[in-house]
Amino acid sequence: MNNVFSRTFCVAPMMGYTTPHARYLYSLLSTRSYLFTEMIAAKSIIYSKNKSILLKNINIKNPVAFQIGGSDPEDLARTAEIIQKNGFSEINLNVGCPSKAVQKGRFGACLMKEKNLVKKCLISLNTNSSIKVTMKCRLGVDEFDSYEFFKEFIEHILDSGIDTIYIHARKAILKGLNPKGNRNIPPLKYEYVNRIKEDFPDTRFILNGGINNLSQAKNLMLSNIDGVMVGRLVKSNPFILNQVDSLFYGEKYRDTNFMQITKNYFSYIKENIGCDSIYRLLSPFISIFFGIPNSRNIKIQIHKKIKSNSIDELENFFYEINNKSII
Ligand SMILES: Cc1cc2nc3c(=O)[nH]c(=O)nc-3n(C[C@H](O)[C@H](O)[C@H](O)COP(=O)(O)O)c2cc1C
Repeated sequence: MNNVFSRTFCVAPMMGYTTPHARYLYSLLSTRSYLFTEMIAAKSIIYSKNKSILLKNINIKNPVAFQIGGSDPEDLARTAEIIQKNGFSEINLNVGCPSKAVQKGRFGACLMKEKNLVKKCLISLNTNSSIKVTMKCRLGVDEFDSYEFFKEFIEHILDSGIDTIYIHARKAILKGLNPKGNRNIPPLKYEYVNRIKEDFPDTRFILNGGINNLSQAKNLMLSNIDGVMVGRLVKSNPFILNQVDSLFYGEKYRDTNFMQITKNYFSYIKENIGCDSIYRLLSPFISIFFGIPNSRNIKIQIHKKIKSNSIDELENFFYEINNKSII
């Protein structure tokens, strides 16, 4: 099942993080990782005045899946065409987000209770675009958490013709638990993903949830799954992506030159100032400091420079801390 657009290693969609800017940074570190946008609601694509920002797709080598949130087949039909025109490689339907706002809009994880509607949505996306349509879901919701429920759901939606499913390997709890809790509290059940692959061997299943390092990801690939999807690990340290092309795609290891990546990323930022907030432009890069012990002082200095719009100073500051071997 491997091809140029292999999904062996995917970076999970993360609202507020997997922006076009983050994807640009990721592409400097790994050209093979399969990338995602943040989830964007179908209604925003149709009605927002900022459509061009929502649909921004920068020119990078990596394939990029556009993640859509919605459950109105007509809305989805309209968005499918627009997404395809913007050069994305895939449209991914979100059937995993447990937030209250998303539930109110009748999409995300609550759709796991509406398999007929999910099938209709996937058919609508498929009929109105020629790019691949996929789905990202959970194992179940609330009391609907048995393997039999999950299998029935998957069996039903596979009638839509899709052949690739990303699974966050825990259920969602729709009442009384916020999205952060829903990413940690319901137990991970990787065995459901292995079983579903056994039951539907012709479908591509990508496992997501709780992968904390690349050797764990590599070990998971020894089971029957078709790929891994990693979220928070990449968010807190995008620089691990420099090992992905060699570890997961058999390419020659290229040592990452932090200075060069910084230089490339800052030229990108300078070209894009005015198109987005400085904070959104910088946040993929500065997120590495959230994981470093004793980095409070560094973070304070970074924030000061962001506030005073001193981009050149900030760039030099990163070279300095690299010289002092802090990163
Ligand atoms: C800040 C943040 C935002 C997220 N936004 C989305 C999103 O827009 N769409 C989605 O399907 N999942 C979203 N997720 C869930 C991730 O895609 C992933 O399923 C989850 O974090 C589990 O993977 P991990 O343990 O590797 O982080 C988000 C996660 C985080 C941490």
